[in-house]
Amino acid sequence: MTARHYGIERYMNTMNGHVDILAIESSCDETACAIIRDGREVLANEIYTQIKFHTVYGGVVPELASRKHIEKMNYVIKAALETAKMTLDDVDAIAVTYGPGLVGALLVGVAEAKAIAWAAHKPLIGVNHIEGHISANYIEHLELKPPYLGLVVSGGHTHLMIVKDWDQFEILGRTVDDAAGEAFDKVARAIGLGYPGGPKVDKLAKEGNPDAVIFPKARVHGSEYDFSFSGLKSAVLNYLNHAEMTHEEINKADLAASFEKAVVDVLVEHTMAAAKNCGIREVAMAGGVSANSALRGAMSKACEERGYKFYMPSPIFCTDNAAMIGVAAYHEFEKGHTRGWDLNAVPGLKLGER
Ligand code: KG4
Ligand code: ZN
Repeated sequence: MTARHYGIERYMNTMNGHVDILAIESSCDETACAIIRDGREVLANEIYTQIKFHTVYGGVVPELASRKHIEKMNYVIKAALETAKMTLDDVDAIAVTYGPGLVGALLVGVAEAKAIAWAAHKPLIGVNHIEGHISANYIEHLELKPPYLGLVVSGGHTHLMIVKDWDQFEILGRTVDDAAGEAFDKVARAIGLGYPGGPKVDKLAKEGNPDAVIFPKARVHGSEYDFSFSGLKSAVLNYLNHAEMTHEEINKADLAASFEKAVVDVLVEHTMAAAKNCGIREVAMAGGVSANSALRGAMSKACEERGYKFYMPSPIFCTDNAAMIGVAAYHEFEKGHTRGWDLNAVPGLKLGER
């Protein structure tokens, strides 16, 4: 594809006429580095997942995550450069996730990015992790451009928004308590599936009956597009406690499928209502939970029935990765949003904030 490169010609690699960005992601438990060409093409995508270290504790241990990022960061960067057959001199800018996320984990990536950018005399770009997730869609869907309706569902975030421009978002709804992925992880733990729960619930739910147990919808009274998943999680826990007290046998697959249906239904219903009310006919979904097979199927079907165009990333670009950060960085770069050496980790960074 032909990139536009407005305003960033001065930074461009004059050797090849492309904008190549090296991006770093370390906001949670994935240490990742990618090299992205012209905001769309993935030249390298290295992901070191720390899952096995956190599994024994039943969730991400922040201190451990920071230490593993320190151990692995240089390796993933070296691997990405090798895959792309490049050196640091060949890249045009260094990008990094600076929030939201775990502060210690973010700091490892931010410090590394600043050090590399300073040493190699490259511009530095700070990227919002949620903006990164939604940008994952641009990798495989070259025709997708703002404005469109976006749904980001991950372990830390549940946002329904209008993506007005590459870096401009109007949030329509969000979770008022737990994120969708958090609900998957907590329910998985309660039924003894372990961490990370989402993929395990997904797998088990395929063998269950989604109509076996009717759980409450994760709605918020008086707020059309907001979500509340903690009530649903409590309903699952109550169901389990009741079964234990009455010595009833539980069908875990039915429980997983019924819980998953309650989450999927509300995500699809709110997204479809927003699309209709806002008159938007293009919908894109992203974030770790968008790897869920039931959600992928239900959202595709709902969009197809209404004649909406629907986009979602391949599962590898749904969960945390640095390729999506490199894509978002390209659009920030295009708008001249480079950062100084005072860039810091912002654990509570909001979408659209800078
Ligand atoms: O986007 P992500 O990797 O990290 C955050 O930014 O939070 O999302 C991780 C979340 C976890 O809660 C995980 O359980 C969930 O995404 N997840 C899934 C699936 N794969 C990952 N949830 C449901 N079904 C899946 N297949
Ligand atoms: Zn994420």
